Amino acid sequence: NVPVVTIDGPSGSGKGTLSRLLAGALGWHFLDSGALYRLVALAAMRDGVPLEDAPRMGDLAASLDVDFVAGSGGTQVVLCGDDVSLAIREESCGIAASKVAVLPEVREGLLARQRAFRRKPGLVADGRDMGTVVFPDAPLKVFLTASLEERATRRRKQLKEQGIDANLHALLHDLAERDARDAQRAVAPLRPADDAMMLDSSGMDIQTVLDQVLEFVSA
Ligand code: CDP
Repeated sequence: NVPVVTIDGPSGSGKGTLSRLLAGALGWHFLDSGALYRLVALAAMRDGVPLEDAPRMGDLAASLDVDFVAGSGGTQVVLCGDDVSLAIREESCGIAASKVAVLPEVREGLLARQRAFRRKPGLVADGRDMGTVVFPDAPLKVFLTASLEERATRRRKQLKEQGIDANLHALLHDLAERDARDAQRAVAPLRPADDAMMLDSSGMDIQTVLDQVLEFVSA
């Protein structure tokens, strides 16, 4: 049975950075499930599929032609032969992703693809429902949070590093709206698994968070 650590939490909690570092430290595979939702949204926008057309969106999710290519500058995300690594990181794509993520057809369509990432020697899975739906038998589940203000500030810094200047108020507003959509959707709403370890990263730097989770892993 291949081990999995699930890292779930809201946007900007730092779970993406944490998951990547943790996977690196353990020498395990990494699943960025949010990237899959972003890819579904991007593919729909490119193909002119209306985001609310549930059956077509479900088909699109199940048949997505995507490749994650590991390279020296990080992982390259390839959709239908196109490098979309930057395109899927745009804020508009994140917002569209959170809209298509409410569709049960899309969530179902991505399930097998996500589970296929579980390969030896182990997997770190980053998302919203990794511990509750996709890998309910994971031996270690972490639920990472941080205050809304801190998450917005981090997101702003992250976008700045990509050369994008974002307005803090707009980010606060978008994050709050996205939190509400994630928490209130009927299928796989964002919530900690019953057996999750809760970790509030407000005021903590990433190394401290990583050390804490590595302690959980070796406990
Ligand atoms: O970077 P950020 O945390 O904002 O988003 P992400 O992890 O890239 O995911 C984009 C969107 O996909 C989120 O806002 C969620 O609505 C959705 N998502 C989901 O529903 N379930 C997952 N396992 C991962 C992402």
